[in-house]
This record gives sequence, structure tokens and C-alpha cells, in this order.
Amino acid sequence: MLNVKGLYTEYASDRGQPVKAAQDVSFDVPEGKLFTLLGPSGCGKTTTLRSIAGLERPVAGEITVEGHVVYSSAKKTFVPPNQRHFGMVFQSYAIWPHMNVFQNAAFPLQVRSQRPSEKEIREKVMRVLSAVGLEDLADRDATRLSGGQQQRLALARAIAMEPRILLLDEPLSNLDAKLREKMRFELKRLQSEFKLTTVYVTHDQSEALALSHQIAVMNEGRIVQVGTPREIYESPRNRFVADFVGTSNFIDASVRTSLSGAGHYQVSSVLGELEVRSVDTLAAGDKAVIAIRPEDVSLSDQKPANGQNICQGRVEAKVFLGECVDFQVRVGETLLLARAHPSLRTPVGESIHVAMNPEKCIAIPNTGSKA
Ligand SMILES: Nc1ncnc2c1ncn2[C@@H]1O[C@H](COP(=O)(O)OP(=O)(O)OP(=O)(O)O)[C@@H](O)[C@H]1O
Ligand SMILES: [Mg+2]
Repeated sequence: MLNVKGLYTEYASDRGQPVKAAQDVSFDVPEGKLFTLLGPSGCGKTTTLRSIAGLERPVAGEITVEGHVVYSSAKKTFVPPNQRHFGMVFQSYAIWPHMNVFQNAAFPLQVRSQRPSEKEIREKVMRVLSAVGLEDLADRDATRLSGGQQQRLALARAIAMEPRILLLDEPLSNLDAKLREKMRFELKRLQSEFKLTTVYVTHDQSEALALSHQIAVMNEGRIVQVGTPREIYESPRNRFVADFVGTSNFIDASVRTSLSGAGHYQVSSVLGELEVRSVDTLAAGDKAVIAIRPEDVSLSDQKPANGQNICQGRVEAKVFLGECVDFQVRVGETLLLARAHPSLRTPVGESIHVAMNPEKCIAIPNTGSKA
């Protein structure tokens, strides 16, 4: 449906050197799916989205929609933004203050070259307004809406124009935590109800995990991993992804030998010999870093009867969070973060047993760089 290939977008900077905002960005979004660009501030998410919309002119690459080229450096094609028929909600959403709610949502349809009849416009607009829960406010001045309602109106307006593709840049960023979570569900429902092919931009990993069919994690202008939310969370391919999406412990190790069972290895580490899993093929002697999530570090007062990757440590600190307790456990020189059930009451200073499921210990080849 949407294909982005080898996209480079740069900005002129005041000091001569161009800002390389998007570098060799490639991805495909299938029809009706929600694809997320996730990454820290300044990594090039908005730039990529604006390049798709035609609001930035890339320096190289190709963008096609349903097989039609909307941008190609090789073919010298650049379809202007208003002819791409994409709906967009910006990071700082803008509703038109001099119009009421209905007029805001109807405007893109009214200015269309093949303008639908008044009756059709009314039907389409009222359908999306009721989908976002604003049908009763259709006649209200748009400025007299709460922040969350304005955000929903911006979304309704983008959907009402029946875009070929919906581009959303942090559309929930201006909402408080509660409303943001509620809108997450609404967005997901709207997206699947209207079968909207969507590119979604966020720096919020839980939003990305909750909403997306696929996620591309970006760092410094480049995509560093593409996968389903589960793949990104459970099998990060590099240290940046393991660190940015959720929290991970990192343990330096070197590979000793491969084990029976594809992708399983024995490594020696500061915690002793460990059995780990890797998506990459590793060889004996390779340096690697083992990433393990705090919720996958199991703690117990009693020594586990059997199992792999067991060691002993001491509770250095703990924080009670209600539904769980975060423990800092020192094993030798290493400090491990572990998330445990509140029933575990081991006091600070006491010794504790640590077990790490080999399936959850992800070996990432240590290439020396942090990316
Ligand atoms: N108009 C511009 N002129 C020059 N540099 C720009 C311009 N817009 C963005 N940049 C730079 O390009 C890089 C990528 O910016 P971009 O807005 O794409 O980041 P982002 O991932 O959307 O970040 P955020 O999460 O903060 O919105 C940054 O280094 C930014 O400073
Ligand atoms: Mg941005």
C-alpha cells in the first residue's frame, strides 16, 4: 500500500553542514494497518512523516502509494501535498477557531475539487463526529472545546476526508495521562473501523506497543529495527532498542559455545556461565551483551531446586510500587534490576537467589557502537 524506499531528507543548517534528519529510511505499510515510527526526540520521525505528506522535499528515495509514485528522486517526481489525498494530524494540532465543530470537520470535503453534495457531506461528517463522540457538540464553537475534544476533532477532520493514508504525528501528546490512555483505545477502534492505513509517530513506547501492527524504531535519522510490538520488546536486535523500548539489564559476556536448539548459546559473563538466546548467529569468542528485562529476573529466598542461570546476590535497595516491587540486587560487581511480586519481602542487605530464564536472556553482538 505505502512503500518508502531509501528516503533521505536533510535540512540546511546555519553552520554549513546539512542536518541529516532522515537517512536511508525504508518501510512498507500494508493496507489497513497501523505502522509506528518510534524514537527519541530529534531522531527524524516528524521529518519522515512530513516527507511522506509532501511537506518536505527529500534529497533521495522513492515513495509510492498503491503503486503510484508520489515522490522519486530517480524519476524526478514530486506530487504536491494537496494532490496526495493524505489526512494528517500534526504534533501541535490545529483546529480552525472561527468555525464550529461541524464546519471544522466538513471543511476539507467542501474544498475538494470533486465536491460531494451537501447531504453526503452532512452524512459523512456526522458519522465521524459520532465515532469520536462529538456528535452532540457539532454546533459548538471549536474554541470552546476541551483539549481532548479538540484533539478528537482534529482526528475526525482527518478521517472525514477519507484519506488514502492517515498520518498522525504525536496526536495524543497534549492530553493528560488518563485521557491519553482512553484515546488510545478510541484511536485503535477508529483505525480498524475505517480500515485506515496509518503512519503513527510517537516517542512514547507504551503507546507504540499498544497501538501498532508494526513498529520501526528510529535513532539518529535511521531505522534500527522493524518488527511487531512483541518482536521489538522480546527480541531487540541491538542495544539501543533494548534500552529505549522498556528497561533492560545489560551484562557483558563472551560466547563460549553454541548449544543444541537453534539460536541458543553458552556464554561466560560477570555473573558466571549463562545460557542465552540470540537472533544473530554467534561464534565462540564473540563479544556480546546480554539484555534481560527486570520482570524476567526472578528472585526467591529459597535456592531454586533446578534450572539454568541461577546465581546468588544481595538486596541493595527496593521500591514498593503497589502492584510490584522493584529490587536492586548486587551480584558480585553487577547491579541487577528485578521486578518482583509484592509478596517477596526480603529485606535490604539480605541474600537472595536470582534465576534468569535462558529464553529471556537476549544476546546482542557487541559491535562496539551503541546503536
Ligand atoms: N526546519 C528544520 N530546519 C533545520 N533542522 C531541522 C528542521 N526540522 C527538524 N530539524 C532537525 O532535524 C532532526 C530531526 O527532527 P524531527 O523533527 O524529524 O525529529 P522528531 O523525531 O520528530 O523529534 P520530536 O520527538 O522532538 O518531535 C533534528 O535534529 C532537528 O533539529
Ligand atoms: Mg516530531
